Amino acid sequence: MTSDFNRMHRETYCAEPFASPERIGRVTIVSSAQPWWEAATIYQIYPRSFADSNGDGVGDLNGIADRLDYLADLGIDAIWISPIFPSPMADFGYDVADYTDIDPRFGTLADFDVLLTKAHAIGLRVLLDFVPNHSSDRHAWFQQSRSSRDNPKRDWYIWRDPAPDGGPPNNWISDFGGPAWTFDEATGQYYSRAFLPEQPDLNWRNPHVRAAMLDAMRFWFGRGVDGFRLDVLWHIVKHADFPDNPVNDAYRDGMGEMHRVHQLHSTDQPEVHAIAAEMRDLADTHGAVLVGEIYLPVPKLMTYYGSANAPGVHLPFNFQLIEANWNAAELAQRITEYEAALPPGGWPNWVLGNHDRPRIATRVGSAQARVAAMLLLTLRGTPTLYQGDELGLPDAQVPPDRVQDPRELREPGIGLGRDPVRTPLPWTGEGGFSTGDPWLPIDPKHLSLNVAAQSDDPASMLTLYRRLLALRRATPALATGAIDGVKAEGDVLRYDRSDGPTRYRILLNLGDTAVPRDPADAILTTDPSGTADPDMLRPAEGLILKVS
Ligand code: GLC
Repeated sequence: MTSDFNRMHRETYCAEPFASPERIGRVTIVSSAQPWWEAATIYQIYPRSFADSNGDGVGDLNGIADRLDYLADLGIDAIWISPIFPSPMADFGYDVADYTDIDPRFGTLADFDVLLTKAHAIGLRVLLDFVPNHSSDRHAWFQQSRSSRDNPKRDWYIWRDPAPDGGPPNNWISDFGGPAWTFDEATGQYYSRAFLPEQPDLNWRNPHVRAAMLDAMRFWFGRGVDGFRLDVLWHIVKHADFPDNPVNDAYRDGMGEMHRVHQLHSTDQPEVHAIAAEMRDLADTHGAVLVGEIYLPVPKLMTYYGSANAPGVHLPFNFQLIEANWNAAELAQRITEYEAALPPGGWPNWVLGNHDRPRIATRVGSAQARVAAMLLLTLRGTPTLYQGDELGLPDAQVPPDRVQDPRELREPGIGLGRDPVRTPLPWTGEGGFSTGDPWLPIDPKHLSLNVAAQSDDPASMLTLYRRLLALRRATPALATGAIDGVKAEGDVLRYDRSDGPTRYRILLNLGDTAVPRDPADAILTTDPSGTADPDMLRPAEGLILKVS
């Protein structure tokens, strides 16, 4: 479908809600100078665990559609839905068997269209999760590719002869442990797979692969999606000669096996940027946003913004807040380094959690999780919030016999498992996620943190998130203003956000002693009492002050 079609589709379904007066000043599409995603807050939905409408224990699209009002009331602007495409679920959707359809567990294409229309009607954008590095081994392309060495699709994946000893072609290690290669008896070669054997790596050096994958993106843009999160973008091109990766001398037992080597040749190759630029070009013709999943040090991360001639993704995910130790000095240093490293025109973004990493409430504790919420929503840049963090959920306990995550099953017991952050969202004191048996159990300690109970509680984490999001929306200085004065004073992290003469000061106490505070008016506190002390910043309190 052409971009004209998509523009018409957007105008038909979206122009009214997105341009309605109450959106003006709230969301960005209204100003042609500012792309919509700069002032937006993105909320990540892990669809298997959000809401189940048909009682099969797995969340689905109709479940999301039924709960859109919750998201609108929360005050977010866009949802990113983790993969919903047909999949054998070896990696719970990150093994895609068809890039242009919906897995029946989640619903149908018609359900998706309804969800999109409903979301747009209430001013919510929808981002899908595109998985370019690998498909499922059940994808028709791979079935053909593995069928014979001279199949026209052979080169759509990465096939190599065995090493002279019959072993894998080189020392590359899968992110889930073990060799990054699987031997295929039928044709006597290994195929590359950076993750599971069920996730063969696509060969992005093949122009037909590029064309087919861009067509898949076009398919969804044609239906009206507002962007993509691009899974493991930095992985998609491998060194053309497949040299061994250098050994990591810092590797110790207890680390994931992937850390035995530095992924020098298996990831982050220069050719990735031309591909990102091609995707960007396509996204820009649809007014859509691309968010790249990239775990790299800041200087490398910045290259994914691309250059003036070849812009890359709009938002290379910035995982500083996920990687950081929770102390004021380190956070100040990371924020400063990141801001300073941004290329001209590069818009920042911040992430507190996702479906792969321990939850913030577990990493820093429930009191500091409130401070973290204020940090996420007052830094300069697009925030991404992971489902359940707005409830302050800690990591769930998943009994050993209920473990599902292939990563935990392959490298058990060293804290790499992702099930604890993927359990169903507690909607009510009884769960309220499904009428059936949920695919992962709801942790009993999550039940008291349920949505219904928190909704009416002025002291709850959910209420704090709603207040922060409402304030951010109503306050240009916080949504898109400048940031300066980032520094640590003892345990207090502080910075200012400003828009012209309007200036706010954020004070975040990461310690457990009260300290005297600046005298300016407190606009919002993270303290459950809802009231700031006129003189002191309490332990584990965050404050937004109006300075001018
Ligand atoms: C990304 C996803 C993760 C998945 C992996 C392989 O890191 O976030 O959940 O397992 O890619 O697709």
